[in-house]
Amino acid sequence: MVAKVIDGNAVARLVRTECRQRAETLKARNIQPGLAVIMVGNNPASGVYVRNKVKACEEVGLRSELHHFHENTGQAQVLDVIDGLNRNPAIHGILIQLPLPPHIQVRTVLEAISRDKDVDGFHLYNVGGLVVGDTVFPPCTPYGVQRLLEHERIPIEGRNVVVVGASNIVGKPMALMLMQKNATVCICHAKTRDLAQFTILADILVAAAGVPGLIKHEVVKTGAVVIDVGINRLPGGGLVGDVDFDQVRQKASYITPVPGGVGPMTVTMLLCNTVGSAERFAGREGPRPASST
Ligand code: GUN
Repeated sequence: MVAKVIDGNAVARLVRTECRQRAETLKARNIQPGLAVIMVGNNPASGVYVRNKVKACEEVGLRSELHHFHENTGQAQVLDVIDGLNRNPAIHGILIQLPLPPHIQVRTVLEAISRDKDVDGFHLYNVGGLVVGDTVFPPCTPYGVQRLLEHERIPIEGRNVVVVGASNIVGKPMALMLMQKNATVCICHAKTRDLAQFTILADILVAAAGVPGLIKHEVVKTGAVVIDVGINRLPGGGLVGDVDFDQVRQKASYITPVPGGVGPMTVTMLLCNTVGSAERFAGREGPRPASST
């Protein structure tokens, strides 16, 4: 068996086209979805992610503003800015780029974001929503994986899903989202003994451990759907996932490549959440004539 390679770039383009159309519908009501991105310090990877987010907003007709603070900026100043953005009606989404410098408490800052503008889905309200199954803003990477599975019409109900990696950003929300779809879900992590005894049972295997080449063909069930969320930079500069792509491709039914699989979906789902937030605000405000400001 040779797996179908899921083209994340192509699916991302489709979803972005939908976002652009939704943004245009809002424009007819004089509303432009707006995203504020907050970055503290100069983490080079964060710099790349933030630039990608700002550029993606432009491409689909969203307004974005970047609040880039010096590494030594105090927490109180960041909280002040968040407070202003929470009150700003032109802003529908607020995102704090992680990681933050150690003198800033991540939880305090994330909880300061209005839950109605938490388009990254990191506020505890939205995290709780994942547990009970009515999340407003699903976190972007697992949301992107879910969208890829939907696009390929891969059934989830009743299937064995193994998520390798238990991070708050990917592994845990991914597991909850697939559980909501009635999968039987197992989460493995760095302390799991004998990873293979779990992964071999997976109909859908999501690798999000951040360990290059962790998933080899012998730990994958024939015909499994293999989703690689890993983004690992090699010393030579290349990018690889957590899955040994060339080997596993010969055994799986579907597989995502790195790059070009889950990666392009993450920013795309951020755009979706921001447009969705603007639609929610528009719904609350009621109809607005195009001539009003
Ligand atoms: N840092 C690494 N990944 C992410 C993400 O998805 N969102 C934010 N805000 N920061 C990140």
